[in-house]
Amino acid sequence: MCSSREWGEHLHAAVLPAVTAGLALGEEMLELGPGPGAATDWLRTWVRRLVVVERDEQSVNALRTRFEADSVEVVHGDATALPFAARSFDSVAAFTMLHHVPTRSLQARVLSEAFRVLRPGGVLVGSDSIHSDELHRFHREDTYNPIEPATLLAWLGGLGYVRIKIGVDDMLTFVAHKPKVDPDHPWIEE
Ligand SMILES: C[S@@+](CC[C@H](N)C(=O)[O-])C[C@H]1O[C@@H](n2cnc3c(N)ncnc32)[C@H](O)[C@@H]1O
Repeated sequence: MCSSREWGEHLHAAVLPAVTAGLALGEEMLELGPGPGAATDWLRTWVRRLVVVERDEQSVNALRTRFEADSVEVVHGDATALPFAARSFDSVAAFTMLHHVPTRSLQARVLSEAFRVLRPGGVLVGSDSIHSDELHRFHREDTYNPIEPATLLAWLGGLGYVRIKIGVDDMLTFVAHKPKVDPDHPWIEE
């Protein structure tokens, strides 16, 4: 489904503009779990540098071909153990990927890694599906581990994110900022 034209159009028209409205995404963004690149194709137009991390090798090869001319940096890696130094990005995006992460602790690890690589004042943006029996059936041969909105809110707060906004409608959306003063390095200000 994520490679269909309809999915791309839905993301571009209804999801990405709504989630990112009014936010400063900065110059350097990291996208987690781009899959075939539906969100990538939109996000790349809003930042100077876009790096994407995808764990599936076939998708990595396809992404490299698709975005070769657009200077998107495609990294074969795992969002639960990001190969980047702390405070490397102004924004991190995770669209429709968290429910593909198989356990609660690994999902929390993705959010914690996003926090680590964000610069102070940086923003995490994303969306995911809300649990439904229909979606469960749709993913019967695939990982399907949707996060309860209240759990996501608790994790984000517990990890140190501030200015958290969770939207619950036909999908789950989230925006969360890293404090302007890095709690691990209070002497470094934005
Ligand atoms: C449903 S696709 C989402 C694609 C795209 N973000 C979109 O919204 O259309 C989820 C992708 O996340 C990737 N993914 C899942 N867990 C990951 C992880 N730990 N690290 C990197 N990529 C991951 C999967 O391989 C898959 O390509």
